[in-house]
Formats: sequence, structure tokens, C-alpha cells
Amino acid sequence: MEKGIEELYNCSLRKLSHALRKIKCVITAFNTNIDIVHFLRSGELERVISQCDRRELVKKIQKPKNKIFRNEDFLAGLLLSMKTGEGMEWIIKKKRVADWIRENFSADDYRMGGFAGITANALARLGVKTIYPHVPSLSELQVRLFIESDKIRIPVEAEGNLWFKKPSEAVRYDDEPLIHWIFEYRAGMEVGINEKRIVVPQPNRFIATWDEKNTRLYVDETFVKGVKKIIDEVDLALISGYHMMVESECFPKEDYLKRIRFTKRLLNEWKKTSDVKIHLELAFFADLNVLRATLIHLSETIDGISLNEGELAQCINCLGNRELSRAIIEGSKIEAFLEGLIFLIRKLSLEKVILHTKDFCIAISRKPVERDLLYAMIAGNCVAMAKAVTGKFCNIDEIREILKNKKVSLSVKGLKSFRSLREELNKRGCQPLGNLSFDMDKYILWFMPMKIVKNPLSTVGLGDCFAAGFSLLAY
Ligand code: GLC
Repeated sequence: MEKGIEELYNCSLRKLSHALRKIKCVITAFNTNIDIVHFLRSGELERVISQCDRRELVKKIQKPKNKIFRNEDFLAGLLLSMKTGEGMEWIIKKKRVADWIRENFSADDYRMGGFAGITANALARLGVKTIYPHVPSLSELQVRLFIESDKIRIPVEAEGNLWFKKPSEAVRYDDEPLIHWIFEYRAGMEVGINEKRIVVPQPNRFIATWDEKNTRLYVDETFVKGVKKIIDEVDLALISGYHMMVESECFPKEDYLKRIRFTKRLLNEWKKTSDVKIHLELAFFADLNVLRATLIHLSETIDGISLNEGELAQCINCLGNRELSRAIIEGSKIEAFLEGLIFLIRKLSLEKVILHTKDFCIAISRKPVERDLLYAMIAGNCVAMAKAVTGKFCNIDEIREILKNKKVSLSVKGLKSFRSLREELNKRGCQPLGNLSFDMDKYILWFMPMKIVKNPLSTVGLGDCFAAGFSLLAY
């Protein structure tokens, strides 16, 4: 089986080169920001914890609020993420907490952040000819984080005219930089709180976000006008960014519903005038009511949706199936993932759903299917894995070289999960269509074990890289 998979990888990269010659333009929206990365060192959290109210902290870990008003909320989120190894993002609601983080942790690296910015860079590096990212704040640091900037175009208005410019020419010096703090941790790291010790099960990251634009799903007017002019030439639109909206007194339910409805109208306008395919990467939601509204409003408009296992559990929970959601979080059984994906695709009448985990991917698509999603999942894995290995965005030649690297190998856990899934599908009477795909009545299901690297250089944005590679071959 492993040999057959190697051949699929080679074939997928050939298909990707071919697709890149055909694809003209891609839109990436809506969230772009600056990520300040801090690599956690052992011992430093104990020092910070000692400055805080430990009883309050323990309570907040037991009853997480998913948003940050005080330093203890921030530490609770970080420790919870470290304890479970689950990637999370919590929104900072008080500026003084953002200031306190800046005083207490070093800025180890400044990186492109947010789905729209990350996928724009990933696609540019792969060789997509023109990419139109939505960039809410065009501060100097933000525009400098675009690579291959000849391929990136940003609409700019002046004296009643609209032009598409390179990021460096679109800079707005007065724009506030939108900063998200990324705390990367390694497997095996230990933190002590009172007598208890937390041991990190797998490498991942916790994000603490202080950002007044993306957290309100701000959309730039010039971007809206600009896209109208070029939408005819656009093949794909990759979207995300709904996950940062959190209901509060100054951002009540009507406000987030207004933002979701506004983007829905925008996406529908794009679809009316062009054949653009729209792919949504879900991301971790701090507010499950916002997640439910996003799913319900966008499900008719989008062509496909990708998400990881934590996000799948969130979706199932917010759509009312708590028990199944818990089974997914516990994570040991592939049947729970399968049930969850079937529940989601049926409940929302979706066309395509793709679950990406570190060890494997499962895609389900409604019949009749036009694309073999095995190749798309491999393309997604290649783009993400190359980023994990090098910490950089890679082109196809670089990806080919990385695949030869001995440190990269097919996940044993992924292969094992496949055997359990095959048994389960067999029990349900689903016929195999090939080695890794199955007929499920109205749908086709594909499974792919992932190539992984033991110690990734970084974990932030890997899901976004996956979505970029995947979408190029999925539509
Ligand atoms: C979220 C975060 C952003 C990060 C991205 C990576 O969108 O807000 O800071 O770069 O996730 O996927």
C-alpha cells in the first residue's frame, strides 16, 4: 500500500504543476494580520504564573471562557491548549492584557498571519499568476510580509480612479498594525501549577489576538470595488476569518449577523458574474453561536469547506449533537470522525467537506464528482508539510526535494486509522472504489494518510497551507 501511495504523491505533484499553468487568478479573504511568534521555553511559564492569582487561574482552566479580559484568562487558554495539544485562538478584549503579554514575552519572529495573507503567500510561492488578498490594515510591516510581491495585487483608489498595485505601493503608513501573539509549544514540555503538572502531548500553538478589524470581519470598500472589476478572471476564492467574531455588549448578535450577511451577499455577487469556486477554511471559533450562524448562512453559497478535528467537534456541538462532539474530542475512534462528517454534510447540504488532521485526511463529496480528491488532499499535505519542515513557503521543486527527505514519512497512526475506517465502512456496506475511496450512496469518501515530520519548525498556519494546496486540485 505504501508504494502505491508514493506513486500517488508523484502524480499529484504533476497534476499540481499542470493546474498552476491553467489557473489565472485567486482571491484570498478576509483576514490578514501580523503574527508575532513566541517559542515557549521551559520554566518561563512558571515565572509568569507566579505573578498571577493561581486559584483564579485553576478555576478558569476548569471553566474556560474562551475570551481574554484578564491575564489569568490568557494563561488559562494557553495552559488548556498545552494540556490537550489542541490549537486554539482566544480574543483579547482589554488592551492592558495585550500590553502585559508584550512586556512578559519576547517577540521571536514576525510573520505573515491570517488565512488570506498566509494563503496568498503560499499560492504566490507555488506559482499562481495573480493573487488578490484582502488586507484590512496596510501598515508598513504588514506589506513587507508579502513574498513574491510581483504576483500580489491590492486595489488602491485615488482621485476617483482604481488601480491594482503591489503591496509595497499600496502601503498606508497610518494604518494600525494588527498583531496576533502566537505561542508555539513542543511535545513533552512540562508546566507546573500548584502541585499539578501539565505535559504537552503534541506540538501546537495558542493564539491570543488583539485586533480591532479582523475581529469584526471588517471588509475594505476598495477591495469590494476592485474585485468587481476582475471577478471574471478569477478561478478560485479562498475565504476564512469568521472565527474571530465574539458576541459582546459592544458587538451584539445583530452586528455579527450583519457582517456574515454582508459577506454572503458579496460572495453571491461574485458567483452571479463568474464561475468562481468558493472554498471556506473554518478555523477555531471562540464563540459557538457565531460558528452556527456562519455555517447556516454560508452553506448554500460555498462550494467546499475544510476543517480540523477540533473544529469538526465545534461544528457538531453547535448544531446540537453534544455526544458526538465529545466522542470526536476524545479522538480515539475513527467512527466518530466519520459520523461527524456525515452529520455535517447532510445537515447543511454541503457539496464537499474535508477533515484535515496531522495524521490523515478524509474528504466526502456529493455525487456526481468531477475531481478525484485524493490528489487534492495530497497537494494540501505537500504544501503544509513543506512549511512544517522548512518554516517557509515552498515551490513545487522544493516540495519534491523535501519528499525525499528521510525525516518525512507516512504517518503510522494515519495508516492504522485507515484500517479501522475500512472495517467500519465495510460493516456499513459501502463498496470500495479504489484502495482509498468508497461509495457511500449519495456521496464518495476518500481517505489519505499524511506525510509528517516529527519536529515541525512551526505549526501555525499549516491548516491554511493545506487549504491552499487542496483547493488548487479540488475544483
Ligand atoms: C488565525 C489567526 C492568525 C493566524 C492564523 C493561522 O487566523 O488569527 O493569527 O496566522 O490563524 O492559521
